Amino acid sequence: MELGKFITLEGGEGAGKTTQAKFLVEALNAAGIETVLTREPGGTFGAEAIRKLVLDGTKDRWSGMTELLLMYAARFDHVEKVIRPALSRGAWVISDRFADSSVAYQGYARGVDLDRVKGVHDAVMGGFGPDLTILFDIDPVIAMKRVETRGEDISRFDAESIDFHKTLRSAFLDIAKENPDRIFTLDAGEKRQGVHMRMIYAVTQKFPELAGRLSQQT
Ligand code: TYD
Repeated sequence: MELGKFITLEGGEGAGKTTQAKFLVEALNAAGIETVLTREPGGTFGAEAIRKLVLDGTKDRWSGMTELLLMYAARFDHVEKVIRPALSRGAWVISDRFADSSVAYQGYARGVDLDRVKGVHDAVMGGFGPDLTILFDIDPVIAMKRVETRGEDISRFDAESIDFHKTLRSAFLDIAKENPDRIFTLDAGEKRQGVHMRMIYAVTQKFPELAGRLSQQT
């Protein structure tokens, strides 16, 4: 039985979700909730090794289907070794990306048939999934400017064209439309503090037991 809650953050590149994930962990910790911050692909020793395989190299290093299988190999290890054990002991888990990214990136953007993506998902994950997903929605033109000025290494996905990122945006919006009870979409083009407040609002809407306990200060 899972006692903790599982929250995932999703969106395109440069949406600011990594910074917001840290803010959310701080807010939950301040409310006395043990929280584990993790990310995908990655989160375990083995999954981080797979992450390197998927993100490094040239754009055409892997086909969409191979990418999907690598993502799910990483995800299974992550769920088995980190996410489920944390939830079982009552900790909350915040993951910077999870399975919706596979639907958006490998399905919509890389062209793997969506039924095939779902088939892999169901075979590997069964009914396991997040209680809440926050989608950071932003115009990809603005987001890619953020990525460029961030000065980090450019991954295989950052190097894709603006059309690829536009496809991703509409993919995530479609996924949100199909899962209105689980996914809360927020405008990530706003200032950091505003995005933070909306994220806290989404969390307290979903988990009313937290109302009044989460700090809105960043
Ligand atoms: P990362 O640098 O963490 O990107 P971001 O900061 O935008 O989250 O790299 C993760 C990349 O992996 C990102 O480009 C999205 C991609 N990805 C997939 O293609 N499929 C997946 O299932 C996941 C989890 C990530």
